[in-house]
Amino acid sequence: MCGIVGYVGPRSALDVIIEGLRRLEYRGYDSAGVALIAGGKLESERRAGKLANLEAALAEHPMSEANTGIGHTRWATHGAPTDRNAHPHLDCTGSLAVIHNGIIENFARLRAGLEERGHELTSDTDTEAVAHLLEEEFPAADGDLAEALRRVCRKLQGAFTLVVTHVDAPDVVVGARRNSPLVVGRGDGENFLASDVSAFIAHTREAVELGQDQVVEIRRDGVTVTDFDGNPATSREYHVDWDASAAEKGGYDWFMLKEIEEQPQAVADTLLGRIDVAGRLSLDEMRLSDEELREIDKIIVIACGTAFHAGLIAKYAIEHWTRIPCEVELASEFRYRDPILDRQTLVIAISQSGETMDLLMALRHARDQGSRVLAICNTNGSTIPRESDAVLYTHAGPEVAVASTKGFLTQLVACYLVALYLGQVRGTKWGDEITSVVDDLRAMPGKIAQVLEGMEPVRELARELCEERSVLFLGRHVGYPVALEGALKLKELAYIHAEGFAAGELKHGPIALIENGLPVIAIVPPPRGRNILHDKIVSNIQEVRARGARAIVIAEEGDTTVDAIADHVIRIPSAPTLLQPLLSTVPLQVFACELASAKGHDVDQPRNLAKSVTVE
Ligand code: F6R
Repeated sequence: MCGIVGYVGPRSALDVIIEGLRRLEYRGYDSAGVALIAGGKLESERRAGKLANLEAALAEHPMSEANTGIGHTRWATHGAPTDRNAHPHLDCTGSLAVIHNGIIENFARLRAGLEERGHELTSDTDTEAVAHLLEEEFPAADGDLAEALRRVCRKLQGAFTLVVTHVDAPDVVVGARRNSPLVVGRGDGENFLASDVSAFIAHTREAVELGQDQVVEIRRDGVTVTDFDGNPATSREYHVDWDASAAEKGGYDWFMLKEIEEQPQAVADTLLGRIDVAGRLSLDEMRLSDEELREIDKIIVIACGTAFHAGLIAKYAIEHWTRIPCEVELASEFRYRDPILDRQTLVIAISQSGETMDLLMALRHARDQGSRVLAICNTNGSTIPRESDAVLYTHAGPEVAVASTKGFLTQLVACYLVALYLGQVRGTKWGDEITSVVDDLRAMPGKIAQVLEGMEPVRELARELCEERSVLFLGRHVGYPVALEGALKLKELAYIHAEGFAAGELKHGPIALIENGLPVIAIVPPPRGRNILHDKIVSNIQEVRARGARAIVIAEEGDTTVDAIADHVIRIPSAPTLLQPLLSTVPLQVFACELASAKGHDVDQPRNLAKSVTVE
């Protein structure tokens, strides 16, 4: 939520900032703004709406050349997405500008105090209070902007990344973080601050991960990090292993399309290097000893949205392969129900961004109760893996489209690897059984590519159905979370009513929704080995078809039982039941993307959403 960029160096600060905001726009796109320090003056421009509105305003009223500045793209929390509430926010004198990601929970009290002391606040935001507090602290800190920010941070409650520039400190930009992301990009004679590395990846791949409650000052010649009390603080330096081209659309109309197409490679990358020469799984970022993993008597998977669906699928694999009881819970609900946790509970926290606040709070709760937390994450240097006992990175590369696709498939692969690893360590799976599943997993990139090659009929169907007001999805076993995921994709991209059901539940109520012509998409498990799940869902499809539904069926190649009962069949290659979601999800992603496109929606930036949700 909210994208932040700060720059100090020899280049045009405005160019660097606008380019960075373009790459960060997926984080929020309600409004955008910049502030520059130029010729002893602070200049600022901000506009409601997408970055393009700000760019149009800048074309009409060009700003002066500057080498120091900050920029922001917003996902509104306090105050409607208007010009007035767009960041940056200035103090009474117009000498300093602040941008912010997060929520300052005690802002009402701070604001009342400021107004009593004569400050004039002109927006409805929590952020503006910080600008005026800094106005008071800057002289008190003898013009040391970092010290002024530290003093202000000590007064704030809530979650925040703040970045500040001041006309009397023209060669520095300062930032602070608590529970919200901020990374430093280290260049040669220039330095950057940003919500994530994609903002500066075109200029440097050397990054510094800031810790909790730290303040950073960037200058052309260096970076200084302290805690909120001014003590020198340590921060982790790392090299980003992807480059600017990975964060570009690369000829596709949408990032989402590109990311769907990248899935074979992404899944291969998640598997890479996990199997040693002896054929044994080795998960070197685990940081939990085999001994500790043998003590585990319960697993709880926590996640949000699409990642939660990955967790639901993981449960089937974990329980089947390890025989450890596994619960799956929405992170936003987890800590409020007083879950039973102890040292023997392994909590698996799944997150593409590594910044989702609901999940961060849930994992902190789990660790406070003594549980061990393993993060499955795609974003190196993000908060969730840093605060976990162990981490398994998915190595999917940057995911820019708001709707998660390759993030989801690679989370699934990581979950399968964790389940197999536990099976190996605890001896619930023989070595040759593990090898056989690993071989199946290794075949998946090729099979996903095969699914992608056959997607034209799915796109045609999506265009044909683009005026529908409702679509239902049915699945059983691991097909049920796939149905939930298909429905979520359609809701968030096409803004139509879509619901996923466990097919067996239909007769307990939802079947009343079926009416003539209603599209129902069913995920059919493999037919092999007299698979009872297969036969049951075939009956469920017949039930909805008998009531007039238009049955769209995702089934394995060669499964002829579905031909007579389906209006459309989408074919996928054969796969073991537990791994089938890696294939059956793909047509649903393509379907939602194409249907939303046909409706004329912005597929990469659906309304009201943002990529990483850093508020609770
Ligand atoms: C849906 C989607 C969201 C995210 C959810 C969790 O397409 O992308 O539902 O899955 O916000 O995000 P992460 O995985 O970053 O924690």
